[in-house]
Amino acid sequence: MQRLADEARLAGRRIGLVPTMGYLHEGHLSLIDEAKKRADVIVMSIYVNPTQFAAGEDLATYPRDLARDEKLAQGRGVDYIFAPSDKMMYPEKQLAFVEVERVSRLLEGEFRPTHFKGVTSVVAKLFNIMKPHVAVFGQKDAQQAFIIGKMVRDLNFDVEIVVAPIAREKDGLAMSSRNVYLSEKDRREATVLYRSLNLAGSLVGKGEIELVRVRSEMLKLITAESEGKIDYISFVDPENFERIEEVGSLPRVLALLAVRFGKTRLIDNMYLNAHGS
Ligand code: PAJ
Repeated sequence: MQRLADEARLAGRRIGLVPTMGYLHEGHLSLIDEAKKRADVIVMSIYVNPTQFAAGEDLATYPRDLARDEKLAQGRGVDYIFAPSDKMMYPEKQLAFVEVERVSRLLEGEFRPTHFKGVTSVVAKLFNIMKPHVAVFGQKDAQQAFIIGKMVRDLNFDVEIVVAPIAREKDGLAMSSRNVYLSEKDRREATVLYRSLNLAGSLVGKGEIELVRVRSEMLKLITAESEGKIDYISFVDPENFERIEEVGSLPRVLALLAVRFGKTRLIDNMYLNAHGS
């Protein structure tokens, strides 16, 4: 793969990378479309990276189907699939890691303290292996996309980061490989996440500036319409991911939430445009 990347670069071709953990859905495939707009050679990595899962998380049961993924990815225009084994990615005990401080400890990081260190380290490895000019990530994992952008800026990685919009099911549920874990009832109830974000959008759009009030309306809706257990409903300044409690003079804020349905943890987010902006 490294040799292919060197050859493509030498031939003056732009390499676009779409990193994934596989079990592809339309959300992943939409990232390929974005990559194709910006690069000539499209590489998709499919690797369930163990270092971003903590003990007790779903590493062993994470859904996998490489044959199906290959068909879907190639059908959408991927030129190369990089699906390494753990031995290829971690041939010896790894001692070097990349960590983005602060932001990696907030929100998702409060519930998964070692998660983002695993993500940034594996993405740094993928960048070094594939040498992409551009890499596409999804807004679905807004905090991840922000952290990777920060890593790239702070450490001068020579790669452009593109963030693609969230692909949703018809009823609004954000597409996720983990949605297959949901029972029929949880799947029905899970649409409340999107509805709560829309509610937040309309409250802030109408001029609500106190985000505690927005959070409590979202909480009311989620608890009234589902048995989901809320890990967090938070609002951040999208420029720095600092938590905020008031809209203030920001043109838009980012609302993020994580809710557990049984053992399945779902995350979603939405930009809320401030009144008049
Ligand atoms: P994975 O969860 O497989 O997601 C791969 C990419 O697809 C991520 O950039 C994610 O944000 C994007 N994605 C997932 N669901 C999406 C949706 N509904 N709409 C748009 N994009 C969506 O994220 C990871 O893998 C890993 O952490 C990885 C970056 C590959 C590092 O191991």
